[in-house]
Amino acid sequence: GRLLFVASEVYPLVKTGGLADVAGSLPAVLQGMGVDVRILLPGYQDVLEKLDSAREVARVALTGGDVSIVETQLPGSGVTTWLLCHPLFSERPGNPYHDAQGVAWVDNAERFMLLSRLAAALACGDTPLEWLPDVLHCNDWHTGPAIALTHQHEKRPRTVFTIHNLAHMGMFDRLTFDRLQLPEHLWTGGGLEFYDQLCFIKGGLGYADWITAVSPTYAKEICESPGGLGLEGLLSHRRDHLVGILNGIDEQVWDPGSDPLLVQNYDRDSLDDKQVNKQALLQDLGLDAGDDLPLFGFVGRLAEQKGLGLLLPLLDELLALPVRLVVLGTGDSSLELALAQLAERHPHSMAVKLSYNETLAHRIEAAADVFLMPSLFEPCGLNQMYSLRYGTLPLVRAVGGLADTVTHASAENLARGTATGFVFVEPDSQSLWSALQCALQLWPDREVWRKMQRTAMAQDFSWQNSARNYLSLYGLDA
Ligand code: ADP
Ligand code: GLC
Repeated sequence: GRLLFVASEVYPLVKTGGLADVAGSLPAVLQGMGVDVRILLPGYQDVLEKLDSAREVARVALTGGDVSIVETQLPGSGVTTWLLCHPLFSERPGNPYHDAQGVAWVDNAERFMLLSRLAAALACGDTPLEWLPDVLHCNDWHTGPAIALTHQHEKRPRTVFTIHNLAHMGMFDRLTFDRLQLPEHLWTGGGLEFYDQLCFIKGGLGYADWITAVSPTYAKEICESPGGLGLEGLLSHRRDHLVGILNGIDEQVWDPGSDPLLVQNYDRDSLDDKQVNKQALLQDLGLDAGDDLPLFGFVGRLAEQKGLGLLLPLLDELLALPVRLVVLGTGDSSLELALAQLAERHPHSMAVKLSYNETLAHRIEAAADVFLMPSLFEPCGLNQMYSLRYGTLPLVRAVGGLADTVTHASAENLARGTATGFVFVEPDSQSLWSALQCALQLWPDREVWRKMQRTAMAQDFSWQNSARNYLSLYGLDA
């Protein structure tokens, strides 16, 4: 079977978050299972500049512009990747979605409608290319209209739309709808209209043969208020065609036993070696090593979603205790400022890096004792799975994929030997504080801690099972 997989970011070519990790690993696993895969990705300037080999395979005239398709191989897995080349992408350095100040590019509707139009054209055979997919798999709002547009065609492939984050809907005004020359019948509640706005993600939600969400719990949460963000009606109406499939992780990229970015590799049987990473990181960041103090780590987008609003009010009190904290992230300038000020107040115990740094992300996963992820909502979350694999116990809120992957260190779970982390429920600082206390109380008990680490590292988050679930939605599992 043939699959066209469309995403706005794909690791290692371009990444701002977990979507890139998924789009960079799932297609490769599917290819390994015998699927003939093409990835379609915008040809951003930064991507085109770092390609070793690329050749133009087609030119396509679309409403909205003439584009060319450049073919390359995804570094690492070698999956054939098609880049949409057009000045809207190829003459725009920097972040895929916004400028250096974090303001969305003003022409994002035009940019991602072009991506959607090319995806639909490829899916329905409206290009010079002979390769025709059996399945079109689109991801997040940037590709929603592609699915709606395939419905204009009699001969269309099966369609799957994955929700990585419903909070990003791709909302634009009616004038934009007119400018994009979309068919008028799409301006309805059953189409792309949402509260008098143009809503890209509805193209996927309303029309896909199958909708997936990136964890079973998130699939439930979005069918209800407040998790559905106003789309719960549409989603629960489509409940029979909505499945939660937990993301897998790339076990080659995230393997403490062979990760080339670590100072010291280690595995379940050599957990003492994990220490070497901690000492090296503390030293690199200029933090006092102290005497066996627990190191807390945070890596992620500095956005409201990630629950920093719950964490920040606790940090002065936490850092008054014998602990260390390292934070890596970029995002909201108010959160960046608050973190920088905290680190200034606690120069010996807290370090903050306001940058995007893949190497440091791996080193923190390996060095920390506890990984903080107190998210307000979390469709799946990959960092907690990386943490589990690295023997770094996650402290998470019981939402979305976090609830599906981390088992709380309750007395019962500890006795059963199933505990892998620290989980709190209510979205308030007091509940988060209790979870922090729980971790701190357990820390001195080395035997219990070690047991939890081993249990965490034994969890299976490989893609095999989830990829098989996608195969059956594709109808390619025969
Ligand atoms: P989300 O997709 O919501 O951002 P995930 O947990 O699914 O959250 O994925 C986040 C991914 O982005 C992880 O691979 C994480 O390591 C990476 N990441 C986020 N911020 C940074 C950063 N500042 N530096 C390096 N990697 C980062
Ligand atoms: C989104 C979500 C995150 C998820 C990722 C990959 O960015 O915020 O929870 O892990 O997509 O599916």
